[in-house]
Amino acid sequence: MEEALLRLKSEAEADLASLNSTQGIEPFRVKYLGRKSEFSSLMRSLGEVSPEDRPRLGQLANAVKQEIEKKFILKKEQIEEGADDAGGIPETDLSLPGRYVPFGKLHPVTQIMEEICSIFEGMGFGVAEGPDVETDFYNFEALNIPPHHPARDMHDTFYVNDSILLRTHTSPMQARIMENQEPPLRMIAPGKVYRCDSDITHTPMFHQVEGFLVDKKVSFSDLRGVLGVFIARMFDEETAIRARPSFFPFTEPSAEIDIACVMCRGKGCRVCKHTGWLEILGAGMIDPEVFKMVGYDPEEYSGFAFGLGVERIAMLKYGINDIRLYYENDLRFLSQF
Ligand code: DAH
Repeated sequence: MEEALLRLKSEAEADLASLNSTQGIEPFRVKYLGRKSEFSSLMRSLGEVSPEDRPRLGQLANAVKQEIEKKFILKKEQIEEGADDAGGIPETDLSLPGRYVPFGKLHPVTQIMEEICSIFEGMGFGVAEGPDVETDFYNFEALNIPPHHPARDMHDTFYVNDSILLRTHTSPMQARIMENQEPPLRMIAPGKVYRCDSDITHTPMFHQVEGFLVDKKVSFSDLRGVLGVFIARMFDEETAIRARPSFFPFTEPSAEIDIACVMCRGKGCRVCKHTGWLEILGAGMIDPEVFKMVGYDPEEYSGFAFGLGVERIAMLKYGINDIRLYYENDLRFLSQF
């Protein structure tokens, strides 16, 4: 028995010495350490040796096993790390080219969203997010759009039930924030909005960034100044801007801000519907009714608000003429950004 154990030990050591590839690891383990190995059957036959010899042989068998195991694990690690001091063929072929690891990227709309937010953050605006599933109250009523107001028609709303809906704009965040904080306030609220509308410039889900500022003596020229800085940073100093009088129930006066179409440089094309201009945001002075609804005194405070379409801006920045491309998940398109 003792002889057999010692012979097995030296055999294992010799085999280990010539073991030099990952393919050899498992056969070695099976041969010397597996359940059907010669070693295991020796261990089983311990029961047959005389009781006087048994403790000594048992100890020897355990020591041999531990020794083989220890050396085997060490060798296995060496081989797997490619450190091959047994003189075999190295596992790592240093002449092979590296493996390509594809990197994920942020979606172009997310990239633009982050850029927009950082421009406003640079002007001292804070960022807040709100719920996509909104109440009729915040989406409409708190913004001076009572039930049956014709302005509701503009929104193509997805209703969940009579009083719950998918927000059609990020403007509800004006009311949500003002309700909980006192002026002065300078905030933007980026997020997803939903409208039942789909064509070359509309998708049922899109992104907006709402912004507003409330303080004493805020004027329309403050609004114009902030938006001018935003457009100069987002596009360039030369980008032409125009403001058209418009109507929103929550601002008075209201305006729509256009920038010169970057697709056709103002000449007129399919994207700008041959006007040379592209609407990128709605804005205005916050209506006193909205202030009353959140408990601000309209005699004391004034403010401006604006809401801009993120996809629209991303289209202009990247020269993309069909908004639907953003949501087809075609990697050939997405990986260009
Ligand atoms: N909420 C408007 C929309 O989605 C955009 C908008 C217009 C937001 C004027 C404003 C604003 O804050 O003052 O059509």
